[in-house]
This record gives sequence, structure tokens and C-alpha cells, in this order.
Amino acid sequence: MQNPQFDLSRREILAGSAATAVMAITPGANAQTTGSGPAPAPMPVAFDVNGKTVHLDLDARTTLLDALREHLHLTGTKKGCDHGQCGACTVMVDGVRINSCLTLAVMHEGDRITTVEGLGTPADLHPMQAAFIKHDAFQCGYCTPGQICSAVAVLAEIKAGIPSHISGDISADPQATVDEIRERMSGNICRCGAYSNIVEAMSEVGGIKA
Ligand code: FES
Ligand code: FES
Repeated sequence: MQNPQFDLSRREILAGSAATAVMAITPGANAQTTGSGPAPAPMPVAFDVNGKTVHLDLDARTTLLDALREHLHLTGTKKGCDHGQCGACTVMVDGVRINSCLTLAVMHEGDRITTVEGLGTPADLHPMQAAFIKHDAFQCGYCTPGQICSAVAVLAEIKAGIPSHISGDISADPQATVDEIRERMSGNICRCGAYSNIVEAMSEVGGIKA
């Protein structure tokens, strides 16, 4: 025989669980929209993206990644973890690579942003894009835009004499080596495991003996 009190509690629990699940899958039911009070006024921001000046009015909490993908429809830059852990969202800001999911768009007033769309075109590939194709440096391709942006920036870092964690003498110019490439690319995760091919592609562009 069922205990009505137990049955009621069970129903309540199920109803509560269902409500939680619906909140979890409802678009917009996130930290940005569930706060009380009116939404903050949009903030204007202007920056250069791939050689073009863009003006946006954004919720100040919008990440650079979301501004690129959702507002400018530059979907080459990928959202992987959205927590700074995978590197799929790597872009260059004033020539320096960053995780665009970890920075707010409104912090980049006047900055020069380069995404994978700004590196080359299908008819005129950037040397790093061409090398990735030549060396089969991708499988599913999801991480690839971030890998390519990072790869271009890494070779520029080495050329500029910026040491890495494994550089033996930080007062000397770092050597362009496979170990330096592997260390500097360690923030770009590839679930397909195309790492050795990525190193080959970078080595060719950087003139490094693999
Ligand atoms: Fe930015 Fe993973 S999406 S680091
Ligand atoms: Fe698939 Fe890197 S090519 S995750």
C-alpha cells in the first residue's frame, strides 16, 4: 500500500527536478539573464577586425568570442570549453594570441583583432593554412582555427625573442625547436590527436628541423 505522504513528496521531487532540467536547457536561462532588475544598458565599442573597423553596442558582459561569433557572424573562431582550457577560441589581438572566451569585448576598444578569417582566403591561403592542409594537421577541424592562429603567433613569439617555460636561458633568444613548438602550443587541445602533424606544419613554415 502506498504512503500518500511519500507519494506527494516523490511528485514534488520529480517536479523540482524537471524544473531544474528545463532551466538548464532553456536558451537564455543563464547567469546573464536570470538576475533581478533591468538588463544593463548596452555599451558602445569599436575595434578593428580583420582590417575593418566595426562598431557594436554590447552588453558589457559579452565575451570577445561571443561578439565575434554571435554579433559579427565570424564563426571560424570556435567555442570549445568557454573556460580558457582548450584554445579553440584563440585569436590575435594586436598580434598577441589570446583566448577570446576569457576577455570581454568592451575591453578591446581600438584594438586590432585577427581571426582565422583574416589570415587568408580560400584562393590565397596563409602559409600556415596551406601547411596544415599539406601535412594533414587536422581531422574534424574543430580546433583548427585556434591552432592556426596560435601557430602563427607562436612563430612570431619565437622570432621576437620571447622565452617560454622551457627556454633554458631567458636572457638569450629562444631557439626555434620542436620542443619550443610543443610547449608553446600546449594550450591548444586537439581531441583528434593531430599534434604530430601540427608540429610538422609549423616546422615547415618556421624552417625548423622536425
Ligand atoms: Fe576558449 Fe576553450 S573556448 S579556451
Ligand atoms: Fe579534431 Fe583537432 S582536428 S579536435
